[in-house]
Amino acid sequence: MAGVAERIDRPGTVPAGGGGEVVLACRGLRRDFGGFTAVKDVDLDVRHAEVHALIGPNGAGKTTVFNLLTKFLASTAGTITLMGEDITKTSPSKVARMGLVRSFQISATFPHMTVLENVRVALQRPAGLATQFWRGLSVLDRLDGRAMELLREVGLEDARDLLAADLSYGRKRVLELATTLALDPKVLLLDEPMAGMGHEDVGTVAAIIRKVAETRAVLMVEHNLKVVADLCDRVTVLQRGEILAAGDYATVSTDERVRTAYMGTDHG
Ligand SMILES: Nc1ncnc2c1ncn2[C@@H]1O[C@H](COP(=O)(O)OP(=O)(O)OP(=O)(O)O)[C@@H](O)[C@H]1O
Ligand SMILES: [Mg+2]
Repeated sequence: MAGVAERIDRPGTVPAGGGGEVVLACRGLRRDFGGFTAVKDVDLDVRHAEVHALIGPNGAGKTTVFNLLTKFLASTAGTITLMGEDITKTSPSKVARMGLVRSFQISATFPHMTVLENVRVALQRPAGLATQFWRGLSVLDRLDGRAMELLREVGLEDARDLLAADLSYGRKRVLELATTLALDPKVLLLDEPMAGMGHEDVGTVAAIIRKVAETRAVLMVEHNLKVVADLCDRVTVLQRGEILAAGDYATVSTDERVRTAYMGTDHG
C-alpha cells in the first residue's frame, strides 16, 4: 500500500521498539477552560495492534484528552493525525467514520431488544444496509452471520436471544463493546472499560480487549494498575494535564516521579 509507506516516512509516525504503525498521534495538545489549563503539551503515538494505557490521578486530564481526540472538545492548541491525515479541525462524526471510535459514544444498547438484534442494528450503520432491507433475506442473512461472528468474538453467542436488559452488568458492557466493534473501528478508545465490574468480568473484558487489539489500536483509560500491567503494551502517565512519563509498564512503574505522583499512594 503506497499510502502506508508515505505515512511511515513522515516524522512522528516511524514505528519504534517493534510496535505497529502509528495510527493516531497528537502533538502539543492543549485545552484551556477559562484560565485553567486541563491538558498541556501532550504528545501521543497510538500504534496498530497495541493496547495503550492512559493513566494518572483523578483530574489529570485523561477524559479531556479523549474528548479532544474524538473532537468532542476543540483543542486550544496542537495537532491530531489519524492514519496520517490531519484531523485537528475535522468534525466528530467524520472522525468516527474514519475509524476513531470511542466505546459508548455512538453505540448505545437497546434494553428491550435481544443481544443479536442490538448487534444487528449497530451493523446496519457502517454498511448503510438499513436502506437495503427491502431487498430481502440475503442481506439479513449476511447481517446475522456477521452479528454472530461479533458475538462469538466477545463470548456472548450463548446470550443471543436474551433481552439486553436481562444481562448482568458485566455482560451489558461487553454487549456495548460488541456494538462498538460493529462499526469496525481502526482505533478504539475506551474510558475505564472495567469500571464497576467484578473480578471475573474484568478478566473477561481484558481478554476481549487483547483479542480486539490484534487487528486494531486500543487507547484506554484505566485505574486498575494490575490490568494495565497485564494488558497494556504502552503506558502514558498524565499528571495535572501534562505527560509525566511514557513507556512500557516496567519502565513507567519504576519511575520515581510516577511512584511519587501516582503509584506511591496505592501501590507503594
Ligand atoms: N468542561 C470543563 N470545564 C472546566 N473544567 C473542566 C471541564 N472538563 C474537565 N475540566 C477540568 O479539567 C481537569 C481534568 O479533568 P478530566 O475529567 O479530564 O480528568 P480525568 O483524568 O479524566 O479524571 P478522572 O480520573 O477523575 O476521570 C479537571 O480539573 C476538571 O475539573
Ligand atoms: Mg476521566
